[in-house]
Amino acid sequence: MDTKALREVAAAAIISDGRLLLAQRVGPPELAGMWELPGGKIEPGETPAQGLRRELREELGVDTVIGGRIGVDVPLPDGMVLRAYRVSLRDGTPTALEHSAVRWVAAPELAAADLVPNDRAWLADLVATLNAG
Ligand code: C5P
Repeated sequence: MDTKALREVAAAAIISDGRLLLAQRVGPPELAGMWELPGGKIEPGETPAQGLRRELREELGVDTVIGGRIGVDVPLPDGMVLRAYRVSLRDGTPTALEHSAVRWVAAPELAAADLVPNDRAWLADLVATLNAG
């Protein structure tokens, strides 16, 4: 593997009717029960948009349109970087296929949610986006 390549984990800010979709992690134990923006690792040869669309089909059973970036880059261990993208739903109803639950939150519920630590970096941007919508 090319150790110089920055592997990306892409996460989706899926927004519909002024609410954001949160997904509840099943593991690892220290994150189980906490809420995150769904997503996952981009595979070699995929663009971030292709990889995120694939992850959202696998995790939520939905077809999506991937938009622009939101929030800062969050450094992860092992030379990976976590990035969030604005996403809209094209088809399907989000279903927790790999999470324990999903829920839609407006800005006040988002601010009070038990988010995974990495995703807290985006909280102010997400709240501002929801309030602007
Ligand atoms: O979901 P998965 O385990 O494939 O994600 C890869 C890495 O990215 C993990 O370390 C996970 O905790 C992190 N991640 C995150 N916030 C997200 C999605 C993934 O911190 N919204």
